[in-house]
Amino acid sequence: MIVTIDGPAGAGKSTIAKRLADELGFEFLDTGAMYRALTWHAQKSGVRLANAQELEAHCLAVSLQIRSGTLWMEQAPVGPEIRTPEVSRDIHFVADNVQIRRYLVDLQRQWVCNANFVSEGRDQGTVAFPTAECKFFLTATPETRARRRLRQLQQQNLPSVYEEILAAQLDRDRRDQSRPQGRLLKAADAITIQTDEMSIAQVVAQLAKIVQVRWLARIC
Ligand code: C5P
Repeated sequence: MIVTIDGPAGAGKSTIAKRLADELGFEFLDTGAMYRALTWHAQKSGVRLANAQELEAHCLAVSLQIRSGTLWMEQAPVGPEIRTPEVSRDIHFVADNVQIRRYLVDLQRQWVCNANFVSEGRDQGTVAFPTAECKFFLTATPETRARRRLRQLQQQNLPSVYEEILAAQLDRDRRDQSRPQGRLLKAADAITIQTDEMSIAQVVAQLAKIVQVRWLARIC
């Protein structure tokens, strides 16, 4: 069974998707990490990000794998280095590139095929897995999301300013909603969960209940 969780930055998707996967005994896929990893790798390699052909040639040659729920790039596990404001600022160069998106969506489909997965991102219910049996759209106000991101960055000892996070996030929302392919969009058959007033545990419990009902309907 494939469960997709889409939504804007800071809606809590990664944490919730991981916990939901653990609770259900499913695999977990953080597709944002794939876009982040390629952005970080291109930055580190001195690629001119605004040069779409150069970026594309570079990214399509970078190997990505998933091993026991962890993303590996070029035979090494990917860590917190991909979650910096610099990566978030430049990620649109990678996420807007149609060829790179195709490369990543193909990998996502290969990894998820024939397994039980919770896959989270922006286009999982719309583009990557349009026939997924259980789709969610997680959201919260921009202010709630910025506060959550601030806490996350502080926990990683990355100095951050709330106003800057909010501005960068609004900019990323705008870009995520307006890219021609794979843009942030609620699938018509996705269930929206507004998470502002909910704890992580409450969201996970609500999603788990819905998935379990569909799982039972599937095997009966
Ligand atoms: O989920 P996260 O905030 O880490 O994603 C980082 C960025 O990667 C998003 O803002 C978006 O531009 C891009 N992304 C995407 N498609 C996905 C997942 C992430 O375009 N499926």
